[in-house]
Amino acid sequence: MWKGRFAQATADLVQQYGESISYDWRLYKHDIAGSIAHARAQVKAKLLTEEEFNQIETGLRGIEKDIDAGNFKFSIELEDIHMNIESELTTRIGAAGGKLHTARSRNDQVATDTRLYCREQVDNISEHLKDLQRSLLGKAEQYAAAFIPGYTHLQRGQPVTVGHHLLAYVEMFARDLDRLADARKRLNVSPLGSGALAGSTINLDREQIAAELGFDSITTNSMDAISDRDYIMELLFDFALIGTHLSRLSEDLILWCSSEFGFATLSDAHTTGSSLMPQKKNPDVCELTRGKTGRLYGNLVSLLTAAKGLPLTYNRDLQEDKEPLFDSIDTLLLALSVNTEMIADMQINVDTCKAAASDPLLLATDLADYLVKNGVPFRSAHELVGKAVAVSVQENTPLDELDLNKISEHYGADTKDIFNLQTALEARTNVGAPSISNVQKQIKCWTKKIN
Ligand code: ARG
Repeated sequence: MWKGRFAQATADLVQQYGESISYDWRLYKHDIAGSIAHARAQVKAKLLTEEEFNQIETGLRGIEKDIDAGNFKFSIELEDIHMNIESELTTRIGAAGGKLHTARSRNDQVATDTRLYCREQVDNISEHLKDLQRSLLGKAEQYAAAFIPGYTHLQRGQPVTVGHHLLAYVEMFARDLDRLADARKRLNVSPLGSGALAGSTINLDREQIAAELGFDSITTNSMDAISDRDYIMELLFDFALIGTHLSRLSEDLILWCSSEFGFATLSDAHTTGSSLMPQKKNPDVCELTRGKTGRLYGNLVSLLTAAKGLPLTYNRDLQEDKEPLFDSIDTLLLALSVNTEMIADMQINVDTCKAAASDPLLLATDLADYLVKNGVPFRSAHELVGKAVAVSVQENTPLDELDLNKISEHYGADTKDIFNLQTALEARTNVGAPSISNVQKQIKCWTKKIN
């Protein structure tokens, strides 16, 4: 494409080093859509005749079909998707193909393609996130009233329900959806017309091009538009955080599926065996999700690092934006799909969960609250209950079987009622707390929001 200035052909190693077609071919639909919009604006500017436009559009649609069908031969001599398509177009339609690149550079072209691709994938990932939320909601509904201990420091804290626990993840993913929608607004801006870095002396209707491509607006500084990769970094951060949430969910499930906890059972279809130990049923999906989160972080840091020392405007370093982006999207889509399926098939071992949640120590805070309601200041109540717990541990007697009145006269005859798990949970009615009716309300609320 630049043969005019060069006396030597590009070295083979440079071609290998610099090609991006092996991965940026996936931008072909976006590249073609961008080219058609660009060509239409050239008709308006009287740079192309209708006839030439039709040749270009038909040629590009033909190329798109061939790529769809796997019948297109990409070549690394043509470096990237932009040159592969343009060169093939000119081979197919002749002279009109050579006019397409007027008032355009690969710099604004790649920025346009990547934004279109990101927009499409934000929508795709958002749908996958909603599927995962639906799967979690299904389980939350099924186990809305199943007691389970809630933990801090991985030590049993207070009773909650499985429904409440799973809804915590629905909330996290809702924030992720919000973040993606917000990032989408910032990325849905058309850089086409920014040229190589300084726009063009040929005026095309940028607004028309943007509208055809579904952009909300156009960029207003050509230098920034060419070098801006903020929207990719932002998405990579959003993806990394989704990874964090998935990884925490995975960790919970790994614990729940251990013999030590025994709270949950994953289906055979979503676990794997051991080649040596016949008894094993391993939560590999959870472990892989936890592990792959590392790649999501790595991809973010890799692009931040690649961009941090770049002078304005385009530098070839920016070609390094695509592999991390594509890898994060592929990794995340698969992680979301497999987790959605796995959770839908997961069983909660309700009795084991309830037995663990029935430890009376989990209601020690409720006992202190009881004292507070009887006029004892919370700090003193905390100490009194602490003493009771110490006696329970020393005498190896469950807290609910102690004669608490011996410890303090503030413990009345109704103290025993505190240790009813059902009542204790039902008492947690303030907004956000895990009473079963709250959990059911939340499930309804989320179900409405997601559908
Ligand atoms: N394949 C290139 C990229 O992804 C396209 C832009 C090339 N521009 C250039 N001036 N060499 O960044």
